[in-house]
Amino acid sequence: MKFGHFDDARKEYVITRPDTPYPWINYLGNEDFFSLISNTSGGYCFYKDARMLRLTRYRYNNVPTDAGGRYFYINDGGTVWNPGWAPAKTQLDFYECRHGLGYSIFNAGKDGLQAIQTSFVPIGANCEVHRLTIKNTAVATKDFQVFSFVEFCLWNAYDDMTNFQRNFNIGEVEISGSAIYHKSEYRERRNHYAVFGVNAPIDGFDMDRESFLGLYNGFDRPDAVFSGKARNSVASGWAPVGSHCIHVTLAPGEEKSLIFVLGYCENPEDQKWESPNVINKAPAQKLLSAFATDAQVDAALDRLQAYWDGLLSNYHLESKDEKLNRMVNIWNQYQCMVTFNMSRSASYFESGIGRGMGFRDSAQDLLGFVHLIPSRARTRILDISATQMADGSAYHQYQPLTKRGNLEVGSGFNDDSLWLIFGVAAYIKETGDWSILQEQVPFENVEATAVSLLEHLKRSFDHVLNHLGPHKLPLIGRADWNDCLNLNCFSETPGESFQTCANFESGIAESVFIAGLFVAIGPAYAEIFRRSGFAEEAKRALREVRNMTAAILKDGWDGEWFLRAYDAFGDKIGSRECGEGKLFIEPQGFCVMAGVGVDTGLAESALDSVHKYLDTQYGIVLNWPSYTSYQLNLGEISSYPPGYKENGGIFCHNNPWISIAETVIGRGDQAFSVYRKTCPAYTEEISEIHRTEPYVYAQMIAGCDATRHGEAKNSWLTGTAAWSFYNVSQFILGIRPQFDGLEIDPCIPAAFGSFTVERRFRGSTYVIEVENPSGRQKGVRSITLDGTPVAGNILPVCGDGQRHAVHVCMG
Ligand code: GLC
Ligand code: GLC
Repeated sequence: MKFGHFDDARKEYVITRPDTPYPWINYLGNEDFFSLISNTSGGYCFYKDARMLRLTRYRYNNVPTDAGGRYFYINDGGTVWNPGWAPAKTQLDFYECRHGLGYSIFNAGKDGLQAIQTSFVPIGANCEVHRLTIKNTAVATKDFQVFSFVEFCLWNAYDDMTNFQRNFNIGEVEISGSAIYHKSEYRERRNHYAVFGVNAPIDGFDMDRESFLGLYNGFDRPDAVFSGKARNSVASGWAPVGSHCIHVTLAPGEEKSLIFVLGYCENPEDQKWESPNVINKAPAQKLLSAFATDAQVDAALDRLQAYWDGLLSNYHLESKDEKLNRMVNIWNQYQCMVTFNMSRSASYFESGIGRGMGFRDSAQDLLGFVHLIPSRARTRILDISATQMADGSAYHQYQPLTKRGNLEVGSGFNDDSLWLIFGVAAYIKETGDWSILQEQVPFENVEATAVSLLEHLKRSFDHVLNHLGPHKLPLIGRADWNDCLNLNCFSETPGESFQTCANFESGIAESVFIAGLFVAIGPAYAEIFRRSGFAEEAKRALREVRNMTAAILKDGWDGEWFLRAYDAFGDKIGSRECGEGKLFIEPQGFCVMAGVGVDTGLAESALDSVHKYLDTQYGIVLNWPSYTSYQLNLGEISSYPPGYKENGGIFCHNNPWISIAETVIGRGDQAFSVYRKTCPAYTEEISEIHRTEPYVYAQMIAGCDATRHGEAKNSWLTGTAAWSFYNVSQFILGIRPQFDGLEIDPCIPAAFGSFTVERRFRGSTYVIEVENPSGRQKGVRSITLDGTPVAGNILPVCGDGQRHAVHVCMG
């Protein structure tokens, strides 16, 4: 069942009823100011950091769900409704929410009034803009009132929901003209405030929540709105809010637009005040005046659209599969941008007050983002590597605002640093910018320790080699990619964090997955050193890769598939010998991607086992059988009920690993079948089962052992976005940046037909037409570039800013 449809021409998803199976959200903002906005206009916004600089308050896990947002109420002769339906939830005559790229439009109507709310964060401005256009579609004149509403957060979102003994006293506001100012803590150490203005004279306002709502009312029944009268309240402590009240009269057919701007402003320390206790409003006035007319708003929307059109034109597919086209051309790339911006911090499943930026998460997010804005990928690489430790290990997380490693979670995830090599290789392959390797980057942000980025890569590589276990496989540390395989944790204390405790420190538990990852990145590592003039290091690296491959084949192969790990006692995990957890997805994906066992048929056997034991109608589960009881030696993985999360859930992130592995052995039909099972556009029809947004990936879909098999959770912020795009763009469609050019190596279903990819690469545009007359799944017979045959399958870097016609014939 569907709750809307795609509008590909406008690059939008159109939600046609408000009661979606879960709030279906969108993200606004690309640079410093970000907003989450649901299909009923719920959500919140922040400047740079969702925890430290939160502008508006949100109530997580609330009843009803999705409480808090920017709400516009219309009181039309006693009937109160919102263009986003919630919170009043008055039955609307029509409703539609269009989530587009960086904007959302709500179009709703009731009793002869139509309201269109267009919400977006303009490029280059630290604010969200909400234009409310109201039209009288009735035959008589309409007199009604519009009330806006936002609830301010007292900046630190964690403190805001816990520290009431202080916070109920510190709320401060000002009003001037039609602009409401939230200035809590501005009198002391903050130099910033929030402004909420509207481009029209107002007939009243409220800045105190209790006065506006009534103490015992919810957002669905504000006293001020229902009585048709603003209270003109001024918050003093308690809960500061911003609400404008505007009377509107419209003749039949007449329409009026109101532009609301909610923004973040800073003043230099010595210019904070206009007069004693009166804030300097100059930056706010400047901001409000930039979005005060329809023409300004239209121009800002045009800029936003041009921005996205430009970014998306870096990779554009035309195939006969419209679902594939829309995922590749629009939604998957869009989600890659959002995950790059947010890491795992702020979504409807991540509170924005918990996790910072993950080291491995951010490094992997680069895979789906680097072709969009390489310069930002470069900065991110330098930020991440600056948190690395001198011995090559990594802080598992860092804070986006301070860019410092997060001490609470610390280090010890032994896969983390390898992902840096993965990310840097992807960056250089995309850009050809070798200079990044010479950047001087500190360890743990201590400037004096700076060494070249190249040296950071070496320490990452060596960290694995310096931590090998009894089988010469990498020690797992706290955990590897699977945060929940906590082999040294042995936690018996309720509430203790599986992420940070290590009660056993076996020095024995090993990971076959890290071994596979090591072998997979090894060749790129060696090549980076060879080309940087370190031939010996390159040779050494390849030797170590061979040793690791041998270790995998000797002690990491179980007969029909790759083993997952050895636990703290040296016992096998992910083996047919195990009662539960016989088979895990991760090493099958990574070892095959690394090429282990490809020539001997082991790779094929591993992937056949995945198909046989792990595959379900909704995707491939992480492990089988799921653990049915808590196991001290395994940790968090066994804490989840069977079928959820890392315990037998369909952890979408590593489904693309299997799909890529299938392309490595040339099985295009299988690769695509894996791809489409978790791909949102293809699961749109089962939205009532899947429940999360049909335009973005979710981290997890409940596996076959779960009661709610097929139900997704943790949508938006997941490595699935980057890996799915990396898979489909570089391995299935096979347009793959390499150090020397663009490799063409599609692996598609036999019946896929021909397709065209327009790819901007290092300044030139390659229009690549691929034909497959004999229905092959892999293999390129011939390539021409501007009519001239190309030897091999790597297009040279033209670097001339021109368009080039490429013709590829599979066979
Ligand atoms: C979460 C984490 C990621 C981890 C994965 C598997 O998605 O963000 O770092 O690899 O879970 O545990
Ligand atoms: C839990 C989750 C895992 C996530 C980790 C991050 O272990 O199960 O998916 O990566 O928390 O802190």
